[in-house]
Amino acid sequence: MKLLVCGGAGFIGSNFVRQRLREHGDEITVLDKLTYAGRRENLHDVLDEIRFVHGAIEDPAAVAHCATAAEAIVNFAAETHVDRSITGPEAFIVTNMQGTHVLLQTARDSGLRYVQVSTDEVYGSIESGSFTEASPLAPSSPYSATKTGADLLVSSYFHTYGLPTVICRGSNNYGPYQYPEKLIPLMVLNALAGDHLPVYGDGRQVRNWLFVEDFARGIGHALEHGQPGEVYNCGGPDECENIDVVRRIVELTGAEESQIEYVTDRPGHDRRYSLSCEKLGRLGWRACTSFDEGLERTVNWYRENIWWWEPIRTGEYLDYYKRHYGRALKG
Ligand SMILES: NC(=O)c1ccc[n+]([C@@H]2O[C@H](COP(=O)([O-])OP(=O)(O)OC[C@H]3O[C@@H](n4cnc5c(N)ncnc54)[C@H](O)[C@@H]3O)[C@@H](O)[C@H]2O)c1
Repeated sequence: MKLLVCGGAGFIGSNFVRQRLREHGDEITVLDKLTYAGRRENLHDVLDEIRFVHGAIEDPAAVAHCATAAEAIVNFAAETHVDRSITGPEAFIVTNMQGTHVLLQTARDSGLRYVQVSTDEVYGSIESGSFTEASPLAPSSPYSATKTGADLLVSSYFHTYGLPTVICRGSNNYGPYQYPEKLIPLMVLNALAGDHLPVYGDGRQVRNWLFVEDFARGIGHALEHGQPGEVYNCGGPDECENIDVVRRIVELTGAEESQIEYVTDRPGHDRRYSLSCEKLGRLGWRACTSFDEGLERTVNWYRENIWWWEPIRTGEYLDYYKRHYGRALKG
């Protein structure tokens, strides 16, 4: 298939690109703005097998240029960190909403299929049970609100213009190439460096962890087998409290429990996310990687790929970290 993958230099996008090249032989153009979270290094082993364009999804000319010859657009491009959306929501509105609109309009003008990569956070928090695709949307943060707005725009393009769209809502992802501001890589790298492990609030927030290769395969599955106009949840096999995730990382890295430090909770922090994935299951997808297996693979990957993360733990990341946690990183 000929794909335009937007945000393909980020965490999930780069895993998707690698998987589609290896398992499907797709012809891929990546369009990416290369924000702090997007890096050519994420695509280091496949750069000469793809066409890479440095540009923004909110730029209609850049998108039109990349869309020629594509059959479908798969959109990963987004501002994705909830904490950053609380301190600076503007970029989230531009990329997540305005950018999605430019992509939809281009898909409509060029007759392309469209896949929107979305998140379980659009449903908000749930105390018990799991969200289905029919659950009401109740986002809590500027991040999830802009992702919800984007999903609604996508649905409107299906209903109003008949654009063949699919939305794929994933639960919390983890795995290789994830920027270390997110919980699992943050804890792994701090644990390996002997640094503190900052846990929000009481650490009892529950997340439905999904290994990134399983999500990438779910998105590919929705692209190939999804019904136009439909939404598909794509959740992980295991739920786990954040504090248990951190304790497992302490064990896997040989760090000390005393490195764990409880810090002020994120404002409006959702307590629990949980997805029912029967709909995508009926199309033949399931998450194959248990949290135990995926976490061990992830810790090993960060241990073995110092070249990838060492340059990140300087400059912008250190400034962000100090502003956010009120203290500097050790190493
Ligand atoms: N990480 C998760 O746990 C998770 C879970 C479910 C859904 N999602 C969704 O999956 C998608 C990818 O998430 P991720 O974790 O890989 O994010 P990421 O932050 O690692 O990567 C985002 C990518 O988008 C690019 N980008 C940002 N703004 C852009 C713009 N205006 N134009 C072009 N490119 C731009 C960045 O440079 C980066 O390469 C997002 O839409 C996110 O909402 C993420």
